[in-house]
Amino acid sequence: MVHISLTSLAFGVAIFSSALAFPTYEPLGLSERQLTEAASNKGGPGAKVPPPPPGPPSFTGTKLVDDAKHPWQPTRPGDIRGPCPGLNTLASHGYLPRDGVASPEQIIKAVQEGFNMESELARFTTYIAHLLDGNPITDLLSIGGKTPRTGPDPPRPAIVGGISNHGTFEGDGSMTRADAFFGDNSAFNPALFEEFKGFSNRFGGGFYNLTVAAELRFHRIQESIANNPQFSIVGFRHLTLYAEAAFPVTLFVDGRKTGAQAGHLDMRSAESFFKDMRFPKGFFRAAQPSGTDPSQEIFEAHPTVPGRNVAGVNTFTPDTSLGSFTDSCAFYTQFANKTIKGLYPNPTGVLRRNLNINLNFFYQSLGGGSESCPQVFPYGQN
Ligand code: HEM
Ligand SMILES: *[C@@H]1O[C@H](CO)[C@@H](O)[C@H](O)[C@H]1NC(C)=O
Ligand SMILES: *[C@@H]1O[C@H](CO)[C@@H](O)[C@H](O)[C@H]1NC(C)=O
Repeated sequence: MVHISLTSLAFGVAIFSSALAFPTYEPLGLSERQLTEAASNKGGPGAKVPPPPPGPPSFTGTKLVDDAKHPWQPTRPGDIRGPCPGLNTLASHGYLPRDGVASPEQIIKAVQEGFNMESELARFTTYIAHLLDGNPITDLLSIGGKTPRTGPDPPRPAIVGGISNHGTFEGDGSMTRADAFFGDNSAFNPALFEEFKGFSNRFGGGFYNLTVAAELRFHRIQESIANNPQFSIVGFRHLTLYAEAAFPVTLFVDGRKTGAQAGHLDMRSAESFFKDMRFPKGFFRAAQPSGTDPSQEIFEAHPTVPGRNVAGVNTFTPDTSLGSFTDSCAFYTQFANKTIKGLYPNPTGVLRRNLNINLNFFYQSLGGGSESCPQVFPYGQN
């Protein structure tokens, strides 16, 4: 089972987080009032039944995505942006709502349409983010911080959780964002982008390619071990470190590039995505559905293990106690039965219903229905 997303994401190393990874974490997507209301069968204002995820688009080749229907616009006061240059770009071009608050359905559609991200990977990533950081009642997730809805669009009173939330999906050692310990873990960091360019000059002849990805990825981990006393790459973060280093090669390079040009991202385009949240002018998306395939290669160049600094800088200690990831089925089982159950120990009413629906969509993104990895039901089956 569990093909594309997990075989390509899994490096055979230990991973995933149990509830222990987030000892103080609360279900941030919900206000207290909503939690109370969720216990009723109606779920309160804005409650929704999550619709099924969109499948792959009918056409999955390259095409112009910086098109007339999707003009780039600067952010307005109240618009939310966050640590993901892919989602930021999609919001600034209107593939996602420009205010930065979206449903899983909208995100899955947008990453496929705008970047040609593989369908299973799109669903896998989105449901993990939504289950960890979103509001399961209103079916909304912010691509940045947790926020009350006071933006320019019709105000939504509910609190919406978001992917900037440190220690869930967002984590340390990012290429262009600082570790949360140093302050802003969400905004583009110019000094780190200088490192990105420096490594691209040194190892990629001025381009970001897989050689650069491998060297920069390893360097950022070493740098944080030496400087961030709270550095942690346990659990899911150990996996996303390598997935995210692959995306600039697989998804930010223009889909018309072939031969020697393929797999090489120039620095003007990199800056456009990471800093300006904007497609390079006339950008064509990837030539076929793409995603994390090269992450294995990036990992193998300098293998690391999950772990954390346990007593200040330079005290990195491997920590594989959160589960071995050689088995993608164990990853799924722990995520559902431990991590999500830890965030929402006793959901009732609409909250329970929607968690179950989202957990089911997540299971299906793994190529579900397999006998070799039975579905688990932390909240029962209906
Ligand atoms: C499918 C839905 C997606 C979700 C929920 C998501 C979420 C995230 C999150 C939470 C981070 C921050 C992790 C961290 O560095 O601490 C991140 C980083 C990143 N994402 Fe996304 N992402 C998605 C799709 C995409 C797409 C389509 C692309 C590329 C086109 C992309 C490219 C990146 C890159 C390159 C980074 C690393 C940034 C850095 O290290 O400085 N993501 N994403
Ligand atoms: C990246 O670019 C450098 C410099 O041109 C080259 O030596 C290296 O082989 C490239 N790596 C890949 C994976 O193409
Ligand atoms: C998952 O949790 C449910 C509910 O607590 C339990 O019945 C089931 O045995 C668990 N499954 C696994 C594989 O841990």
